[in-house]
Amino acid sequence: MAAETWFNPVTLDKGPFCHLPCCVSQLGHRPHGGELLCCWAWVHQSLSKACRVMALRASDHSQAAMNRLKEKVLTLDTMNPCVRSVEYAVRGPIVLRALELEQELRQGIKKPFTEVIRANIGDAQAMGQKPITFLRQVLALCIHPDLLNSPNFPEDAKRRAEHILQACGGHSLGAYSVSSGIQLIREDVARYIQQRDGGIPADPNNIFLSTGASDAIVTVLKLLVAGEGHTRTGVLIPIPQYPLYSATLAELNAVQVDYYLDEERAWALDVAELRRALCQARDHCHPRALCVINPGNPTGQVQPRECIEAVIRFAFEEQLFLMADEVYQDNVYAEGSQFHSFKKVLMEMGPPYAAQQELASFHSVSKGYMGECGFRAGYVEVVNMDAAVQQQMQKLMSVRLCPPVPGQALLHVVVSPPAPSDPSFAQFQAERQAVLAELAAKAKLTEQVFNEAPGIHCNPVQGAMYSFPRVQLPPRAVLRAQELGLAPDMFFCMCLLEETGICVVPGSGFGQREGTYHFRMTILPPVEKLRSLLEKLSQFHAKFTRQYS
Ligand SMILES: Cc1ncc(COP(=O)(O)O)c(C=O)c1O
Repeated sequence: MAAETWFNPVTLDKGPFCHLPCCVSQLGHRPHGGELLCCWAWVHQSLSKACRVMALRASDHSQAAMNRLKEKVLTLDTMNPCVRSVEYAVRGPIVLRALELEQELRQGIKKPFTEVIRANIGDAQAMGQKPITFLRQVLALCIHPDLLNSPNFPEDAKRRAEHILQACGGHSLGAYSVSSGIQLIREDVARYIQQRDGGIPADPNNIFLSTGASDAIVTVLKLLVAGEGHTRTGVLIPIPQYPLYSATLAELNAVQVDYYLDEERAWALDVAELRRALCQARDHCHPRALCVINPGNPTGQVQPRECIEAVIRFAFEEQLFLMADEVYQDNVYAEGSQFHSFKKVLMEMGPPYAAQQELASFHSVSKGYMGECGFRAGYVEVVNMDAAVQQQMQKLMSVRLCPPVPGQALLHVVVSPPAPSDPSFAQFQAERQAVLAELAAKAKLTEQVFNEAPGIHCNPVQGAMYSFPRVQLPPRAVLRAQELGLAPDMFFCMCLLEETGICVVPGSGFGQREGTYHFRMTILPPVEKLRSLLEKLSQFHAKFTRQYS
């Protein structure tokens, strides 16, 4: 018997009870060679005895343990209280009820509608949008390289797939990449940003690929959170906001500092309001970051350049780290509106801003014309970040190994689409334009139909994928909601769902001024479905108003 087998619990398992790991560790002395056989009997005897005593004791204990009800280690009372305080309305109770209703419909239970329409989440393909052919061709080739021999794929898609695979470990999407993302793709992203920003350089070393923009946003927030009590990090976020921010701040035990967008001025961002929020917050926390969502979710506004400049000046003067959530940068519809990236405006403002103001800007493949939410790909570009902190960020990302590599491959195609000389260019352009044109038409339609309905007011949907109309709710409906322990707009949205099958998210999930009520609805359903949805919703609101007046 080799010395090593002596310590092998499998070998020891031949003796009674000796599979217990404690028997192995208790040996302490490691016999060798000839010594081995002669000491076996003694050791075996002692071990057997010890193990038998232990097993008896253990069985006493286990009997006692079996007789009482085991308490859960993890309960609502003992779990992480920060996690317990997280709320995420976009997938909240209303969506759970929508799922139940779908199930009930499948079981043949009669409802006043035949279909649940999920207008609650910005998931274009779930609403029927077709994927862009070129993106999927390249992905298909990368995932199954045997297809490179197929005549059914255009040559430029094949070249692209080969190019991506060359940059992957083992030439396979199935290998991990470096944590900040494949170098080649970070270079592509840098080129894309440079082109988008009229030639202002972007450094691939400042670009980190991520599991959707969400992951990068959470990572940057993690870096910012510090302090306790009055020194806890405060983060200014818009109200209404995308609830990833409130949820993450709750999880990280940071302080959410609300600044209100001005609904009367098409959800404009006002620096005076930023200043008010900041001054009040300084009484109880240490505000260190300012988040801006442009184009806005859920509010759909697109910020003019002067506003961005004012925000940058404010952040600079007040020593705030800027986070620019620009995932809807391709989704700008309104005439006269244009997307201006924070990075470009910052750089064009020159010194001292350009060289000093810290900025993280986020983008994603989930939105735009692509709508590839399921691939979970995005990136953050950091500007003027302290080099040592940037290394910490790199470290933090490396703990999670890497963002999904298929998503990175998709991002590559998004940031370097076919060139005019490529065989796929015409089709790619046509598909991209068609998606964006339809979204623009749906943005207009939404605003129009809602504004014709008494008691509903909808600001122009200048960009992004949502409308956030304000609804008047009669006082009796508000009372009824209070009796039920629900926010009034949650009550409205629940009734709407039960009666029409339309699933939208109450404004209270995004934040709104006290006493005002809203809901968020995506503009993503196909045009005819959207039209009927808007009309049904307006009719329901009229009926609800009558019922509770
Ligand atoms: C403003 C905003 N930021 C970030 C995200 C997250 O996007 P991703 O799918 O890239 O994580 C969303 C998703 O809806 C969003 O609306």
